[in-house]
Amino acid sequence: MRGNNLKAPFLRLGVNIDHVATIRNARGGGHPDPVRAAHLAAEAGADGITAHLREDRRHISDDDIARLMSEITQPLNLEMAVTGEMLDIALKHIPNACCLVPERRQEITTEGGLDATAKGNQLPGFIRHLKSKRIRVSLFIDPNRHQIEAAASVGADIVELHTGPYCDATLHGDRVDIDGEIERLAECASVAAAAGLEVHAGHGLTFDTVDAVAAMPEIVELNIGHFLIGEAIFGGLHSTIGRMRALMDNARAQARGSASA
Ligand code: PXP
Repeated sequence: MRGNNLKAPFLRLGVNIDHVATIRNARGGGHPDPVRAAHLAAEAGADGITAHLREDRRHISDDDIARLMSEITQPLNLEMAVTGEMLDIALKHIPNACCLVPERRQEITTEGGLDATAKGNQLPGFIRHLKSKRIRVSLFIDPNRHQIEAAASVGADIVELHTGPYCDATLHGDRVDIDGEIERLAECASVAAAAGLEVHAGHGLTFDTVDAVAAMPEIVELNIGHFLIGEAIFGGLHSTIGRMRALMDNARAQARGSASA
């Protein structure tokens, strides 16, 4: 069975299909269909599908969520803001997991992690509602020890570590910046696992940046969207996801090999 080696379990790939819907919405109508992309992603090696239902519905729609729930067999990870509207939608559909993210209307994409440490936040009650329906709850947080401790204390099952700063460092930083971000992620992955949280990671990952994160043994899932959908224009969705899957698997196998050497 996948995932039974606790030292370095199988690494799952969650494919985020939001930007198939972005292209569809540019013209209205139904093409390209994100649900069709989800089926193809699964055939190509995705272990789960991620979709962000934003408050302004700029890409994924309510109908997409309903169709994903009824048509796909892979677990759905519903990304959403901490609002009453989103809670009702999640409780209606009961996805496998909800990843709670901060949302600001003007942002191009999710910019920073959720602040799980904020005093008086509504996370404990919100998370309790979701968990009462057996929905697994993930918090998308910056790689920071205080956020991890807060995530555990508000009852999250999972933390998804924000890999955006690491990916930005690979584009705009020097070796010291990059190594610093990798170290920060690795340390946080280990702190989160020790706190009993399942550890995921994502945001901005590409063929060039995935290896370092995939090699971190505590991380069990990566969520990747924009790069895969963009790269699929050139290489096709099946082949692009297959290549990402292979890079992840190789990095994880090498990490496992060097750990046991
Ligand atoms: N994880 C979270 C919580 C996100 O908000 C996003 C972006 O929607 C991703 C992962 C995937 O990021 P990207 O599209 O840059 O791969």
